[in-house]
Amino acid sequence: MSNTDAAGQILEAAGKKQLTQRERFEKVRTLIHRDSESASAALAAEVAAMIRERAAAGGRIVLGLATGSTPVPFYRELIRLHCEEGLSFANVTTFNLDEYYGLPRDHPESYYRFMRDQLFDHIDIPDSQINIPDGTVPMEAVYDHCLDYERRIVEAGGLDLQILGIGRTGHIGFNEPGSSSDSITRMITLDRVTRQDAAADFMGVANVPRSAITMGVGTILEARRLVLMAWGSNKAGIVQEAVEGRVTDQVSASFLQTHPNATFLVDRAAASNLTRFRYPWLVGPVEWDVAMKKRAVVWLAGKLEKPILKLVDEDYNESGAGGLLASTSEAAYEVNIDIFNRVQRTITGWPGGKPGADDTNRPERSLPFPKRILVLSPEPADAYIGMGGTIERLKEQGHEVKLVFQTSGSLRVADVAALNFARVVLEMVETTHSPEWESQTAYARSIIEAIDAKGEFGIDPESVRKLKGLILRGEARDAASTCRLKYHDSQFLDLPFYETGRYRRFHLEEADTAALATILEDFQPHSIFTTGDASDPSSPQAIAFRAFSGAWLARGGRDCNVWLYRGRDRPFEAHEIEMAVPMSPDQLDQKVEAIRKFMSINDADLNATSRNQEIAKTYDALGMAEYEAIEAFRRWNTEGAGSET
Ligand code: F6R
Repeated sequence: MSNTDAAGQILEAAGKKQLTQRERFEKVRTLIHRDSESASAALAAEVAAMIRERAAAGGRIVLGLATGSTPVPFYRELIRLHCEEGLSFANVTTFNLDEYYGLPRDHPESYYRFMRDQLFDHIDIPDSQINIPDGTVPMEAVYDHCLDYERRIVEAGGLDLQILGIGRTGHIGFNEPGSSSDSITRMITLDRVTRQDAAADFMGVANVPRSAITMGVGTILEARRLVLMAWGSNKAGIVQEAVEGRVTDQVSASFLQTHPNATFLVDRAAASNLTRFRYPWLVGPVEWDVAMKKRAVVWLAGKLEKPILKLVDEDYNESGAGGLLASTSEAAYEVNIDIFNRVQRTITGWPGGKPGADDTNRPERSLPFPKRILVLSPEPADAYIGMGGTIERLKEQGHEVKLVFQTSGSLRVADVAALNFARVVLEMVETTHSPEWESQTAYARSIIEAIDAKGEFGIDPESVRKLKGLILRGEARDAASTCRLKYHDSQFLDLPFYETGRYRRFHLEEADTAALATILEDFQPHSIFTTGDASDPSSPQAIAFRAFSGAWLARGGRDCNVWLYRGRDRPFEAHEIEMAVPMSPDQLDQKVEAIRKFMSINDADLNATSRNQEIAKTYDALGMAEYEAIEAFRRWNTEGAGSET
């Protein structure tokens, strides 16, 4: 054997060892794609190949399907393959995982309706080959209905491929914590978290059904192949538990670890909590650049509950981060000081830059001053939730702040707010007896009738959406004045993707990006604050961000920082923060007051302020000054694309 061969073998063996190291953490095959689109396209190609192969052999294929926001891009790709590349579904039989109990088929939120709208109405699958649990069977017939569903799956030859999403409780189908590995199709009570997650679709958590019929974990595990998809950082925690944790009925998706042919198909954001990304130094050699050092030191301090400056060499070595010290030949003391200073410098009371100050180590440059600062709020409350205190400061420090509400937010407004408005108009007519009010009376009646006609969960007709949007405008302006903004500092875009869409099924349109391009062109900002898209790519926040990023990337010659803030989503972690704007108790109260202005919203997020307090506590624990609360920001890394991560 030559020397090079031997060296090659040694390297290969070492590489295998490293792979095993990763497998020690990841107990099920996990494929990571840049974003949900590319992952969905890869899966659709696999499914198309299976369908074609079977069709060529004169055979049939049985697919298990899921609903929710996750499979939407996958279904869009299947439809495209059908329309543009002639993929036929004539030999396909489908079984859906679940259905809400008590919803009629024509209910806009029923999974039956969802599947028709998102897939079946656009492909050539015969109706007789579609199977979805029936949420309307009487209670006493549910048991037989479930057994019949199981029988139909067996008669069809069993599931060739089951598509899955994952809920934040770790559910697959609606198998909430406690579902055993041999459970079969049955009625289940939905978890509180699951109902909370569906609240926006149903206009409030109170309207979300309490139970559902779902295939069991056992039914799912019998499929010959399983693919679980997950997108966005909101899913990162539960994906990590399911992939790396122990197999437990508390996380149904963890049972995929026991299946011989299961794959997790995730985007980068959903993969971000896996050990290989979160603590890569525990998995193999890493490049210790500044970001990696900061991540490791902040992690170590948190884990050992020690302020950064008190970490010693042994802390690094004994926790698996010894490589950091070895790679730089620095002692813990030197690394600590460096990272401490870096975290310290993220703190600034001057989010628009401090005029006349040396800005070498400040998050935002001092010039130009004052700046034109564009704040983008996807839904009207987002900007206040994420950066109400910072908006006030920017204004107070003399900047020109333009607050752009990208969507009307009308989907979040409760019916009662529109009804109240209509009733005030009617009462005005009754009390004034003036004929001048005739047309207003007709309008108010039409609103009341439209709301009655659509029922509790129906889709609002345009007139009602318009009214709800205008009600929210008033509240948004009211909140703006709490943050010192004037009437003309706010602008409402009513982006078409939102005005014509529904939660979990929004679709970015060219007009959305064009509207953002116009704003950028007209305002020429020096600094921009926006939410980013990593938490849930199907959310209005993510689509609104894509409208912005599309316009931004198409525009050349920009001398401008883009800062990301978090609205209702997962807050930034300490190591991710690049600008931390502290708030006093008074400023925090003021922020609460601004958020409270959104009286007509179903779920105004008052937790926002406790998240700000959490960040302050984390900074305090790292050894920084102790503040009441902190609003956190990160620079948008535009490298390579429109997506945030
Ligand atoms: C729905 C289903 C559920 C969803 C899960 C995630 O048929 O089986 O397990 O996959 O609740 O929902 P989304 O995709 O909306 O995040």
